[in-house]
Amino acid sequence: MQLWPGAFSVLLIVVNYTWTRVSATPPINPKCKVVQKTAQYSGCELRSVPSELPEETEELFLNNNRIEFLINSSFAPYSYLKKLSCSGNRMTSLHSNVFSKNSQLHTLNLGNNLLYTHYKQTAQALSALTSLRNLDVSGNVLTEDMAALFVQNLTNLEILSLSHNILMRLDESVFSRLHSLRELNLERNLLYEIEEDAFHGLANLQVLNIAFNQLPCIVDFHLTSVVHLNLSHNAIEWFLSSQNQEEAFQLETLDLSVNRLLFFPLLPHHSHIKNLLLSGNQLAFRETTENGSSSKSSSMLQFVFLNGTVINISSTYLWEETLQRDISSLNVLDMTYNCLTHLPKGFIKKMTALTGLLLGHNTLESLDFIPSEIPVSLQDLDLSDNDLSNLKQSFPDLPPHLQVFNLSLNGLQHFPRQIFSGLSKIKLVDLSFNHLGICSFNDKNSTNCVAWNDINSLQFLYLRGCDLKEIPTNAFSGSPIAHLELSDNQGILLPKSSLQGLSQTLVYLGLRNTSFTDVDFSVFQKLKFLDISVNCLTQIPNSVLRIHLSQLNLRDNKLTAIDLTQTKVLSRKVNAVLLGGNPFNCCSLDWWHFLQRQNSTCILDRTDVKCIHSTLNQGDIHVDLFLSSHCNKRDGESIWLYVLLFLPICLTFVCAGVVFILSFNPRLLPRFIKRRCRSSVPY
Ligand SMILES: *[C@@H]1O[C@H](CO)[C@@H](O)[C@H](O)[C@H]1NC(C)=O
Ligand SMILES: *[C@@H]1O[C@H](CO)[C@@H](O)[C@H](O)[C@H]1NC(C)=O
Ligand SMILES: *[C@@H]1O[C@H](CO)[C@@H](O)[C@H](O)[C@H]1NC(C)=O
Ligand SMILES: *[C@@H]1O[C@H](CO)[C@@H](O)[C@H](O)[C@H]1NC(C)=O
Ligand SMILES: *[C@@H]1O[C@H](CO)[C@@H](O)[C@H](O)[C@H]1NC(C)=O
Ligand SMILES: *[C@@H]1O[C@H](CO)[C@@H](O)[C@H](O)[C@H]1NC(C)=O
Ligand SMILES: *[C@@H]1O[C@H](CO)[C@@H](O)[C@H](O)[C@H]1NC(C)=O
Ligand SMILES: *[C@@H]1O[C@H](CO)[C@@H](O)[C@H](O)[C@H]1NC(C)=O
Ligand SMILES: *[C@@H]1O[C@H](CO)[C@@H](O)[C@H](O)[C@H]1NC(C)=O
Ligand SMILES: *[C@@H]1O[C@H](CO)[C@@H](O)[C@H](O)[C@H]1NC(C)=O
Repeated sequence: MQLWPGAFSVLLIVVNYTWTRVSATPPINPKCKVVQKTAQYSGCELRSVPSELPEETEELFLNNNRIEFLINSSFAPYSYLKKLSCSGNRMTSLHSNVFSKNSQLHTLNLGNNLLYTHYKQTAQALSALTSLRNLDVSGNVLTEDMAALFVQNLTNLEILSLSHNILMRLDESVFSRLHSLRELNLERNLLYEIEEDAFHGLANLQVLNIAFNQLPCIVDFHLTSVVHLNLSHNAIEWFLSSQNQEEAFQLETLDLSVNRLLFFPLLPHHSHIKNLLLSGNQLAFRETTENGSSSKSSSMLQFVFLNGTVINISSTYLWEETLQRDISSLNVLDMTYNCLTHLPKGFIKKMTALTGLLLGHNTLESLDFIPSEIPVSLQDLDLSDNDLSNLKQSFPDLPPHLQVFNLSLNGLQHFPRQIFSGLSKIKLVDLSFNHLGICSFNDKNSTNCVAWNDINSLQFLYLRGCDLKEIPTNAFSGSPIAHLELSDNQGILLPKSSLQGLSQTLVYLGLRNTSFTDVDFSVFQKLKFLDISVNCLTQIPNSVLRIHLSQLNLRDNKLTAIDLTQTKVLSRKVNAVLLGGNPFNCCSLDWWHFLQRQNSTCILDRTDVKCIHSTLNQGDIHVDLFLSSHCNKRDGESIWLYVLLFLPICLTFVCAGVVFILSFNPRLLPRFIKRRCRSSVPY
């Protein structure tokens, strides 16, 4: 280390000064303490490593302090140290010998510091840690060269985090010696290129996270040991695995969400892939007709490699290759937020273990893959936000073991009324934002309504914005619904008999934006969550306060005050309440102060609760900031206002009177002046 001697002595003085200060006054913060062999000194405003800790300390946490450098003796007393965490300081340098006595250290977190500044010295310090297994140097503005130097001699490293740095390109030199590495985190860097052999020699790598980088494509993916690969939030247009048919891949989870994929990824020939996440791409089966055969006008695709090589692949060939790859182990396929209009024939059929098929937010117009293609194992089907209102065929039967079904946002008008009666495991149904009514018990013919009786497994039902006018008598009898969402059905009528069947099961009821009237909430004995926001209520319905609620949502109504007797009941029966967006009167806040004093009901949106004051013209005032004196003083204030207003007027009249009198009687003025001037003035 080359340091100007003067600077060094100044440095030492500063260090010594702060050190003695820290040791002289033990930290006041009670959470800064040693428990058994763990020293917990995070967020203790330390400027240096405490020196007075027990020698046998094994774990030392110094996160979020103000330590700027580690000198050679910082950790010398603690030779049993196994775990050290110094993240979120402002460290610029580590003395090259700082860890010379800490050969047992196996976990080291140096994240969120400024280690780029003296990286060579830091690298030297790290190379002493031969038994280090877990290193976190995220958020240190490191380039790939710096990172390479940091890990050069850490051959036993198993877990390494380099996230939030500025790595751009990886080649063989960076990780070449980390033969034991299992987990590598490269999230949020600037990586745009990874050379073919960059991970060469990492035979044990299982978890690789490259999310939030700038990779344009993955070609010839051949990391056979990787189980969990995260490539989300890049700019990937292609994912092509190695052509080698012999290689057995361990891959289980592949996350390619939020990229620019145009084609289905070309998976390894042999893998155990379970989760394939392709949400937020531009996938469409453009090159295939609905029955799976490739269209004749198959286009040629050109791959331009960074080294200048160009290869041509026909899209037909690509699709045929795709179908050959092994996807039989797939459990969850997430293709939400893509451009799918259909699924080609024979495609889903190959996924014989599929449990979750998520196709929401596409432009599907056809459902002919149901039921013929869908495996019986399917439990979760998301078809929300598609174009199914134009469905040409009638709605197909659903797979028998389905548990969760989301069909919201499709504008459907026709639907098989008894479709759910045959599903013995169905638990959650979301039909929000379709024009589907609820069939009444006797009506056996209509097709634009759905029957909800006697579905023994149904617990969650979402019927938001379905334009429901009236809930028929006993609409839900025999179905143990606990969660019922009826919000955004303006003017819905809920006759007493309609929800009767749910009196013993309902836990959540959503009636937001419905203008409901005359609902007796007290019949729902199990109700815990009630949403009656956006309903123009001027007072809380009395029946609400007859049940014990965990949460009551009263936001965006027309409440100006809450009756004090109601407030008393509220504070006993409701654990948490939402009150924002109501035009409360600033001068009748007794109820608010009562709730504050009682402190038994939590106001979840406290910062949104505002009130209106007629004379203070500042718009809505936060109820906590409003001074009640503005209301009490109002009379006194106005008197003073009048006094202030009238005083000048009176004065004006008095003056005018005087002038008038004086000018009316002209002799008065000279006499007055003469009298003042009569006193002789000596010259
Ligand atoms: C730290 O460095 C000083 C001189 O720079 C040396 O005297 C001392 O022995 C060193 N301590 C350790 C623990 O290496
Ligand atoms: C790694 O070890 C080699 C050989 O012992 C040494 O020359 C090199 O300086 C070490 N690397 C670092 C970063 O200290
Ligand atoms: C991939 O990384 C992103 C960003 O950290 C994270 O949100 C996502 O959950 C990860 N995917 C998986 C499958 O763990
Ligand atoms: C379906 O595939 C067959 C060949 O397998 C083809 O002859 C036929 O034209 C296709 N039908 C449509 C509608 O594309
Ligand atoms: C360019 O890169 C590709 C893929 O990495 C490789 O197949 C090809 O042989 C390389 N060409 C040259 C000229 O290096
Ligand atoms: C790839 O296709 C382009 C035109 O589409 C052609 O000019 C080029 O020669 C082809 N390259 C190879 C290697 O076939
Ligand atoms: C159904 O899908 C919509 C749109 O994707 C989503 O907003 C909604 O939360 C889903 N419903 C349930 C119950 O998860
Ligand atoms: C239902 O339809 C059948 C014939 O399709 C008809 O005979 C019956 O009267 C209808 N029932 C009602 C209640 O409309
Ligand atoms: C209330 O519901 C109607 C449909 O019934 C909808 O058009 C409107 O936007 C909703 N208002 C709010 C504030 O959500
Ligand atoms: C209200 O009670 C909670 C615990 O129930 C407590 O943490 C909080 O300080 C109390 N607030 C007031 C203003 O008394």
